Amino acid sequence: MGNEKLSWQDHIRDVPDFPKPGIIFKDITPMLADGAAFSAAVSELAEFIGPDVDAIVGIESRGFIFGAALANKLGLGLVTVRKPGKLPADIHSVEYELEYGVDRLEIHRDALSSGHKVVIVDDLLATGGTASATVELVQKLGAEVVSCLFVIELGFLSGRKALSGTKVCSLLSYN
Ligand code: PRP
Ligand code: MG
Repeated sequence: MGNEKLSWQDHIRDVPDFPKPGIIFKDITPMLADGAAFSAAVSELAEFIGPDVDAIVGIESRGFIFGAALANKLGLGLVTVRKPGKLPADIHSVEYELEYGVDRLEIHRDALSSGHKVVIVDDLLATGGTASATVELVQKLGAEVVSCLFVIELGFLSGRKALSGTKVCSLLSYN
């Protein structure tokens, strides 16, 4: 007793009432801080990437953490989808809806081109707004989204519906 091996999932912490009352926030920071757990999660993500994939697309901010680790592990490049006003060269921009208001994500126009096959990576699938805006950005460049890959999926928010037509994979789902 007491020395059972923990899996990476055991390092995800529930934080009640964040960012507002009634929400239980799934906090990945303890998992990132544990070398074995972080590495195990990235290895599991890597199992979803086939040999036909040309690049990983990471979504700012937390998608960069997993996207960069995964791309580096596989020897692939990382394309960054960023919050507004961060990318210096010519961009495409897509607006998406939040609970209150809208937000925007951007990609460099020369980041991908027709024929490229990519996997989009983020830490969390909630309503799917962030990921579907990213799918739209990738498609604007003529590239193909092989799949969207998440560490955590909040199944009760039905993000998969927002991504219908795109293959969705997640390592861990809460329903
Ligand atoms: C969080 C999370 C996902 C997104 C999921 O990002 O990292 O990117 O929300 O929500 P959705 O499926 O409803 O769009 P957020 O922009 O809140 O913060 P971050 O910058 O820490 O990644
Ligand atoms: Mg995010």
